[in-house]
Amino acid sequence: MTDSRLLTMKRRDVFLSVAAATASATALSMQSAEGKEIVRTLAARGHDGIYARLPTLALESKGDFYAGQYVWRAAHLEYAAEQRALELLKAKGIDPKSDMSWAEAVALLESDPLIAMTCRTRSSQQKLKYQLLQKAYHERADEFLAEMERADKMGPGSLELNPRMFLPEYTTHEIHSMPGGYVGDAFAGHMYHSGTDWGAYVDYNSQDGAHMAMAKAAQIPKDGKVRRILEIGTSIGQLATSMKRRFPDAEVWGIDVGGPMVRYAHMKAADMGVAVNFAQRLAEDTKFPANHFDLVVSNLLFHEVSEQGAKNIIKEVARILRPGGVFSPTDMNTPPQTVKAKYTLWYNYRWNHEDWYADWHSVDFAGEMRASGLKTTNSQNGRDRFSPQVIGLKA
Ligand SMILES: C[S@@+](CC[C@H](N)C(=O)[O-])C[C@H]1O[C@@H](n2cnc3c(N)ncnc32)[C@H](O)[C@@H]1O
Repeated sequence: MTDSRLLTMKRRDVFLSVAAATASATALSMQSAEGKEIVRTLAARGHDGIYARLPTLALESKGDFYAGQYVWRAAHLEYAAEQRALELLKAKGIDPKSDMSWAEAVALLESDPLIAMTCRTRSSQQKLKYQLLQKAYHERADEFLAEMERADKMGPGSLELNPRMFLPEYTTHEIHSMPGGYVGDAFAGHMYHSGTDWGAYVDYNSQDGAHMAMAKAAQIPKDGKVRRILEIGTSIGQLATSMKRRFPDAEVWGIDVGGPMVRYAHMKAADMGVAVNFAQRLAEDTKFPANHFDLVVSNLLFHEVSEQGAKNIIKEVARILRPGGVFSPTDMNTPPQTVKAKYTLWYNYRWNHEDWYADWHSVDFAGEMRASGLKTTNSQNGRDRFSPQVIGLKA
């Protein structure tokens, strides 16, 4: 049992006592052997530690299948495709790490069926699982909307929604094939939580394990003062809440362009009893005063942002950090190191709606930080999964 499982789950208990069985219980209708209808009421499915369990066992079982398939693809199929790429390149006398454009890498590898199937398996999984999740939440939309409405006004922590906020065009795409993207579906947060648990984080997500590790590894200012922390592109608030758990006395904010994302983030944090302030705001226009934060963190934001968006966000972070403050952005390694990695990135960009991958790889991230007045240093933890490659320090 992880320590996170010991956190008390307040909101859902309150909700259940108020709404009794009607809203969260499921009426199940079935036929007896004599053909009579039997209606049985199922208990609410509750939490598994931090994770609010999925509405039905059937959905949970399908999720289990997707998670298993993701592991099989990532561990075994991906390895086989890697070997195949090495063979193909060797036969042509090409160094697997040679510097070439994405288009050249695609031309070399795209006709191989094993490599293509490996990429297709991933993108199909994304499409199928998100559509499955969307359908499941929309089928019981009233119930899940009522749950969020109640949580909106609950503490600890706060929620600020700005439904009329200007949305830059690049934020309105259906990134990694999530229907409605982060801004266009009321259940984007719900879908993202389960979808990433069945995919990218593979079961290291439901108890915020990955984000707790990131929070633990986060570099802090030299003077040791951490009074205000901001996570930009917080999604469902996992890093922001993990930072609050590491620094319980700090004021912690999580902002995101997606209203449904911060709404879910607030509900989840309130469930956990962790006081974080969530707001629907843009990372390039945070509305915070200059020199305000000791620490600004992000995880997996920048590969989903346009080149201009990334430059604007870095400038804004440099503005709101206090002197001595630290900017710690974690994301996928860039640039891709091998010909096969270039092909895979292209495939996800083209077929899995990772629409800003190419922009992400063309931004000179460290250079932009320096141009915005930050000093850069390589991460103290190297290139592990939970560390930024480069950290910005405000003089
Ligand atoms: C991959 S998710 C981030 C995941 C999350 N930080 C985590 O650790 O799991 C990227 C998030 O960035 C948000 N985002 C994209 N552009 C943004 C912007 N300009 N301002 C604020 N949030 C943005 C998206 O809405 C999305 O929720």
